[in-house]
Order: sequence, then C-alpha cells, then structure tokens
Amino acid sequence: MKTIGVLTSGGDAPGMNAAVRAVVRTGIYYGLKVMGIRKGYAGLLNGDMEEMTLRSVGDIIHRGGTILQTARSAEFNSEAGVKKAISIAKVFGLDALIVIGGDGSYRGARDLANQGFPVICIPGTIDNDIASTEYTIGFDTALNTVQDAIDKIRDTAYSHERCSVLEVMGRHAGYIALNVAISGGAEAVILPEKEFDIDRDIIKPIIEGRNRGKKHYLVIIAEGVGGAVEIAKYIEEKTDIKTRATILGHIQRGGSPTVYDRVMASRMGAYAVKLLKEGKINRVIALQKGVITDFDINEALQMKKTIDEEMVELNKILAL
Ligand code: F6P
Repeated sequence: MKTIGVLTSGGDAPGMNAAVRAVVRTGIYYGLKVMGIRKGYAGLLNGDMEEMTLRSVGDIIHRGGTILQTARSAEFNSEAGVKKAISIAKVFGLDALIVIGGDGSYRGARDLANQGFPVICIPGTIDNDIASTEYTIGFDTALNTVQDAIDKIRDTAYSHERCSVLEVMGRHAGYIALNVAISGGAEAVILPEKEFDIDRDIIKPIIEGRNRGKKHYLVIIAEGVGGAVEIAKYIEEKTDIKTRATILGHIQRGGSPTVYDRVMASRMGAYAVKLLKEGKINRVIALQKGVITDFDINEALQMKKTIDEEMVELNKILAL
C-alpha cells in the first residue's frame, strides 16, 4: 500500500476536517502518499484530487464543514459508475480509499469494496444513525448547537409563558431530537422511528403540566416528522397557550467542532490509516462501549440500530 485517497461524502459534519487531518498526517507519518479527493464520489469520478501535505491540513482542526467539500453523486449509484470510479482511482495510482460519511457513503464504499477496490469507512454525520457504531463524528457538536438554541428559546418562552415547538434535523433518525429533549427539558418529543398521536403525545403532557403549575413548554419535533408550524397552531387552538414554531435547519450542520468531536475524529482518522498499514481492508471504524474498533463493511451494513426506549421513558418522567 503506497498511495491512499481520502474523501468526505453526504451531508457535512463538524469534525470531518479533524478526521481528514488525522488521515493525512498519520498516512504521511507511515510513509504513504495521501490524495485528497474533492466533492465525494462525484470528485472521484472526475479525477478531482491532489496530493495532500502536512501543511495542507494545517489550521483546519477547528473548522466546521469539510475542506474537501462534499456531494451526492447520481452517476456513482450504478454499477457502471462504480467501475468508472475504480478505473479513475487506478489512473491516479490509488491503492485504497478512506471514506468519511454517513450510511449512504458507506453503501457507496461497499460497492467499491465488492468490485475489488479496498476501502475503509469513518462514521461522519450529525445524525448518529450508523448502526455499527455508537458514535458518529459531528453528533456532539450538533447537539450543542441545538442546546444553545433551546436555552435561548426557553428564555423567551419563560418571559411570555409560551409554548415553543422546535424542529431539529433527522430525516430518518431521532437521535438528535431525543438527546436534546432530555438535555433541554422538553415536555414532548416526536421521533420519526415511532408513530405518534398529537393529542396523546403532545396536548395531554402540556395540559397535565399546566395543571401541575408549569408556565412554559417545549416540544421537540424531528425533521422526519415535520409539520412544526401546523403542530404549533394545533397546540394553540387546543390549549389557548400562545405557541411559536422554530425550524433550526442547517445551522445544526455548521460550526466549530467540540473537543469530543475533534478527539474522536483524530482517533478514528488515525485508526483508519493504521488498519490499511496492517493490510486490513474493507472495514468500517466504530465506537463500541467506549473503545474504537472495526467491522467488515458488508456485516456493518446488515446491522440495525433502534431508538433507546429507556431514554424515551426517561424524558417522560423528567418532564413531569
Ligand atoms: O444526514 C445529515 C442531515 O443533516 C440530516 O439530518 C438531514 O435530514 C439531511 O442531512 C439534510 O440534507 P440536505 O442538506 O441535503 O438537505
């Protein structure tokens, strides 16, 4: 193994730069040439890459987003696209590819692996929804961004004795929503993984809370459920409590990564290169019980992740 490529793919996540930096510096430390591929698999198909140096990853550990940029490529999502990507990788002398991204990026990497091109995946998405790992780079930063917004919203909700409905990211996954519901003290949280009934799951806890003396209320809605504005209107009609909706959107994807994300990204990036150094290929990096480990990519993509029911229950108890 002499030359490796690194790319970031799918939605960006704070900490991706720290992971790129760790891949480049660990790679060079072990005597490898590291090519940085711009704009994910689309860039690979275009041969949009250049050699990274120790200095080209200087001053990026604290930056959100990804200096390599990212994209979603329709062309790569076909057997012909995958074969073309491998032929371009060979033109540039790549012996393996390190992919930093979420589930969709993992599936792209698996297709490369199954066509004979060696890959390693590093989990990078604010959603924390990759089944093989307990943690994905960017999650902690996104949680803290949402928490900062919740604290501000609580100030004004308290002053006006209002209800706030906050929509947070997660099209298919409610991990951000559930965690910030607990850290932000929400009366109700609605997740894409669980069916919900607006009267049972939102109106009832608000009215019961009011009967116990509550003066302001917070409802967290995951993006995959959506409808924050309509839900706010419904709450106001049913309870006569003034209600406002806030949709946080892409603010959750940006910002300087937290210490946890920088350290995790650095450790995972270095671990990925070490695997290749040891001749291990087609692996995904994972955090399991606090330890960084790795799994076969095909096995990893068979794994399932479910919402922690204990946390759902905990939020109901703590919202009393
Ligand atoms: O996967 C990360 C994520 O931010 C999801 O939470 C969200 O549903 C999606 O990406 C949004 O994607 P886009 O930026 O392409 O609209």
